[in-house]
Amino acid sequence: MFIKKRPSWALPHFAITPESVYLNRRQFMSGTVAMAAGLSMPGLLSAAELPVQGETLDFISMPRYSTNEKKTPFEDVARYNNFYEFGTGKDDPAKYADEMTVDPWSVVVEGECERPGEYALEELLKPYEYQERVYRLRCVEAWSMVIPWIGVPLADILKRLRPTSRAKYVYFETLYDPGQMRGQRSLFSTIDWPYQEGLRMDEAMNELSFLAVGLYGKALPKQNGAPIRLVVPWKYGFKSIKSIVKIRFQEERPKTTWEMIAPQEYGFYANVNPAVDHPRWSQKKERRLPSGLFSPNWVETVRFNGYGEQVAHLYKGMDLRKYY
Ligand code: MTE
Repeated sequence: MFIKKRPSWALPHFAITPESVYLNRRQFMSGTVAMAAGLSMPGLLSAAELPVQGETLDFISMPRYSTNEKKTPFEDVARYNNFYEFGTGKDDPAKYADEMTVDPWSVVVEGECERPGEYALEELLKPYEYQERVYRLRCVEAWSMVIPWIGVPLADILKRLRPTSRAKYVYFETLYDPGQMRGQRSLFSTIDWPYQEGLRMDEAMNELSFLAVGLYGKALPKQNGAPIRLVVPWKYGFKSIKSIVKIRFQEERPKTTWEMIAPQEYGFYANVNPAVDHPRWSQKKERRLPSGLFSPNWVETVRFNGYGEQVAHLYKGMDLRKYY
């Protein structure tokens, strides 16, 4: 893998745990103690590499951050997608995302931080042990899934980039490459590419915010946002931006794709909220996939998608009807 630029803070090669030690530790980690306690292992060195398509990944399970609800089968997770860069049909991403190359991949970091630069993805991921977290994903279109993601806490990566005190928001951007992304070539697209998203700094630093590189034990399928995508489980799915190539720390609130298209329908916060309907449909219920014509599998939508305990404090005193 070609490394575009080695950042000054990157671990020297000798600091990387030798493979034998690493493998022993993995055997230990897969033991019941670490699994049951759902321990996080801050600062633990690992030899994380850029996940290769279809490759099985090593990870520690995080029961503390996981639901026991029935998982949505892999086939639904990987075949029913929103990734407008490859078309607006739910099956377009699975059909066409293979036209995108994800290796090599680098992420540009800019704005209010001490460590801007262009990072090869594996450099960003290198010091971390992958975690598995089973989260609910609730789309603003009123369907939902339960997905076992693999990745790293967003906060761990952001902290290492040393945001300055002026960093009040984090902005993310998806790859813009019409040659590889047929939706970006479409004359009918309503999106002003690239796809853009953002979080307030305290939201980004919340323990639930996650950067996924895999699901169901393997590297992310391209249609799900390979090689790296955001997962913010208490917000509508459109906040969980895919195939990220840029992270910017900034003082002002970023403009985000869906808010720019229809601000009266899609807000910056986009917290899951059954009490605030979308102007064109109710948000009180959701179709939990798999769902069919005769068994639509409607379930009640829960405020903050059921993650209120971890995130409600972020919005104390805010009128969530106004800041939807
Ligand atoms: N990211 C990009 N770049 N482009 C998109 O069209 N769609 C969003 C989000 N991230 C989207 C995106 C929407 S609306 C949803 S619901 C989720 O991705 C869907 O994620 P999934 O296809 O992995 O279930």
